[in-house]
Amino acid sequence: MADPKRDGLKVSDQKAVLVGVYSPRQRKEAGWSANEDALDELAGLVEAAGAEPVARLVQIRDEPHMATVLGTGKVAELTQLIESVGADLIAFDTDLSPTQGKNLEKETDTVVVDRSEIILDIFAARARTHEAKLQVELAQLLYMRPRLTRMWTHLERIASGSLGSARGPGEKQLELDRRLVDTRIAELRRKLKEVEKRRSREANRTPLQTVSLVGYTNAGKSTLMNALTGAEVYVADQLFATLDTRTRTWDVPGYGPTLLSDTVGFVSNLPHHLVASFRSTLEESRQADLLLHVVDASDPHAEEHIATVHEVLTDLGIDDESSLLVLNKADRVEDRSTLDVLRARHEDSVSVSAVTGHGLDRLGERVAARLGGEFETARLRLSAGNGKALHYLNTHSEILSQEYEGSDLLAEARITPRHLRVLTEKLDAALDEAEEPAVVPIRAAS
Ligand code: GTP
Repeated sequence: MADPKRDGLKVSDQKAVLVGVYSPRQRKEAGWSANEDALDELAGLVEAAGAEPVARLVQIRDEPHMATVLGTGKVAELTQLIESVGADLIAFDTDLSPTQGKNLEKETDTVVVDRSEIILDIFAARARTHEAKLQVELAQLLYMRPRLTRMWTHLERIASGSLGSARGPGEKQLELDRRLVDTRIAELRRKLKEVEKRRSREANRTPLQTVSLVGYTNAGKSTLMNALTGAEVYVADQLFATLDTRTRTWDVPGYGPTLLSDTVGFVSNLPHHLVASFRSTLEESRQADLLLHVVDASDPHAEEHIATVHEVLTDLGIDDESSLLVLNKADRVEDRSTLDVLRARHEDSVSVSAVTGHGLDRLGERVAARLGGEFETARLRLSAGNGKALHYLNTHSEILSQEYEGSDLLAEARITPRHLRVLTEKLDAALDEAEEPAVVPIRAAS
């Protein structure tokens, strides 16, 4: 059968023709100087997947053609183009339905991949942690399941006949494949749940505040992480050994150690299977005490990238409002006014260069102010017999006062919202409602 574990479609080393079909409105709104400009990002994705873009074809249509996305004449043009440039792959900027993909392959006699497939391919090649690998495989299978017939065609081509080009897989074989895929999907979901549970248990045990880097792909998150933490500062503490390996301690000057973690990069139109599969990793961002939203300020599309990241985070139910925008690659911004405009539009931002180190001190100061300022003073009531909660309170907060009331302990403590949440949601402590004003957490100065 088509091996569900194989890494995507392996578009590497192929010569690709890039194809985009857009509406007149899309063209107008994007303001491309030439239609082909629309394919710049796809070209980057195709290169990232290891293939070489060799030609571009764009059609502006009110509606994509039902069966082949491109109109009949354009399909013929595409076939000729493939021949003249010697391409062996067609990469579509939009997502194709299983039928459209199949039809196009038949018409052009060339392997067709769409935007989702390319992104999945890149993620498959880059997945580093056990969890990320499981997540990518799940996303690939979910994508592949309705397309199994076409995948067979791909395989037949790849195996150049040996896999049975004389004989199609047949309905029975397909049914078998589907069932195997379903079993694997269920298995992956179960495994991911386990990893997720373990991770959240471990994350809850850390007394440190957490900062999460999010941002568009290539914004410079990893570079920033290295610049801030020093390349070798992996978290070696046993407790966090199974956390994503891209979590490191960041000693914020004037504040103290925090945990800094990197997340997957975003691109516009991320395949929804991928977002869904990476939900648990991204969930980490929701738990973070502070989000650093990194953007490549030297990219002319910086604003669109910021908007895309906002969208994905909103989709995931993550409140991006309280994040700090990091305008990275300031050293590459040629026209200073570009930075000024970005800064004016996004008041809560700080410009840095992860490469030269410019602005990193200021970033540290802002983070310290944010994290310190986020401590709250809260009154808690917990049973004196609740050893776990008492221990947690002692290790994760500064206790300002405490008194016993029967078998309850009433404590006033300076604590971060995250630790307060763990106590009240998981460890059976209760915010004390006995005295009116104390119920409302008091925002304390840092
Ligand atoms: P993904 O893993 O795709 O999400 O990317 P990322 O956001 O982790 O970006 P990464 O750190 O890999 O950086 C992408 C590219 O930008 C690399 O070539 C970096 O060297 C470069 N880069 C990162 N920060 C800066 C910077 O401040 N200035 C300049 N000039 N280049 C930078």
